[in-house]
Amino acid sequence: MRILVTGGGGREHALCWAISASPLCTKLLCAPGNAGIAQVAQCIDVPAEDVEGQVALALAEKIDFVVIGPETPLVAGLADRLAKVGIKAFGPSMEAAQLEGSKGFTKDLCRRYQIPTGAYERFTDLDKAIAYIEANGAPIVVKADGLAAGKGVVVAETVEQAESAVRDMLAGNRFGAAGASVVIEEFLDGEEASLFALTDGEHALALAGAQDHKRAFDGDKGPNTGGMGAYSPAPILDAAMVERAMNEIVLPTVRAMKADGIPFKGVLYAGLMIGKNGPKLIEYNCRFGDPETQVLMMRLKSDIVPALIACADGGLKHLDLRWSNDAALTVVMAANGYPDAYKKGTEIRGLEAAGKVEGVQVFHAGTKADGPRILANGGRVLNVTATAPTVEEARARAYKAVDLIDWPEGFCRRDIAWRAVARRP
Ligand code: AMP
Ligand code: GLY
Repeated sequence: MRILVTGGGGREHALCWAISASPLCTKLLCAPGNAGIAQVAQCIDVPAEDVEGQVALALAEKIDFVVIGPETPLVAGLADRLAKVGIKAFGPSMEAAQLEGSKGFTKDLCRRYQIPTGAYERFTDLDKAIAYIEANGAPIVVKADGLAAGKGVVVAETVEQAESAVRDMLAGNRFGAAGASVVIEEFLDGEEASLFALTDGEHALALAGAQDHKRAFDGDKGPNTGGMGAYSPAPILDAAMVERAMNEIVLPTVRAMKADGIPFKGVLYAGLMIGKNGPKLIEYNCRFGDPETQVLMMRLKSDIVPALIACADGGLKHLDLRWSNDAALTVVMAANGYPDAYKKGTEIRGLEAAGKVEGVQVFHAGTKADGPRILANGGRVLNVTATAPTVEEARARAYKAVDLIDWPEGFCRRDIAWRAVARRP
């Protein structure tokens, strides 16, 4: 099969790394890709968001199967456009991608089908939103309805913060159309975890669990980011908790989407809050997590390609995936300043030595080659990923590799997996 992966981050590097190992893959392309992906796939400079460009590329290259990494092209209908020209894709239709593209859509679905999630209301009117905040008090969570590059959620500790957030969104045009409608939601207490399930619209197969670190600095402090590190397994997502979350949240969602005539095919990423009364849904994403995918791909022993194809074609019911018992952990190296303004184009050295540490794979998240030099080309730049029999050993290996990377213009957290490490006897 000729396979095209859409995207160019660490998630796509990990997916390309896994797909390139499949005997089913005869040719692998990635658009736009990055300097690391170029080691396992042919990279072509078409932006992931350029739906028509991706379709044209897939046609020109006689692609049999497209694996769509990020949410933006999914929400913009890339899977539908590919289906129209007869090309199979991994990833939901535009309508099904509303599970990520509209927080209100998901909340309403949960309400109609009694899927556990925080209490909420939706607003487009500022006065009504403020009245709701005042009636409910803080802490309370304000969310822009649409995609806002991970910045559309405000966990407000005070009524004033919540009011200023809805004012920004509903009156101040903070996120444009994405913030013209908001969800105001109950604050959920507990521990967060990410559950990924492949689905063919009817059946769902849970993948290994993972946890990520959303805050920029050690101790889970500082601003929210796309994710500064991740690890798998996540002790809180043991087999019993996965089964519960599948039965109470994921499978009811898959059935609800099918019943509503918009079956979801692809990977459903459930952001869960696990509290005293069990798991509740925080939100869905309609794609693999980044950087969670990097640790999942390191632990996956089976060929991923048949599983991705089964999501598109059906037949997931007969499929099983095998996972290594080892722990995997990834440390994100980001450009100084991230998630705010940062510099591009600084040189990274020492990647070869880092990649030679036992059990380590360095996935590239935002890099560009300049002849033999590797330059930073994004906010999150590298994902230094390691496996080992225990999470402590995986962590030691990952930081040993991090310390071999010579990139003074970058930083990373030093405490990835602290929860899992603290839980070990
Ligand atoms: P997002 O940017 O959509 O990934 O959400 C950012 C983060 O906000 C989540 O990972 C949670 O930590 C937090 N969050 C979102 N909704 C809630 C909620 N209802 N209660 C508590 N925390 C929340
Ligand atoms: N790791 C968070 C995300 O992929 O959205």
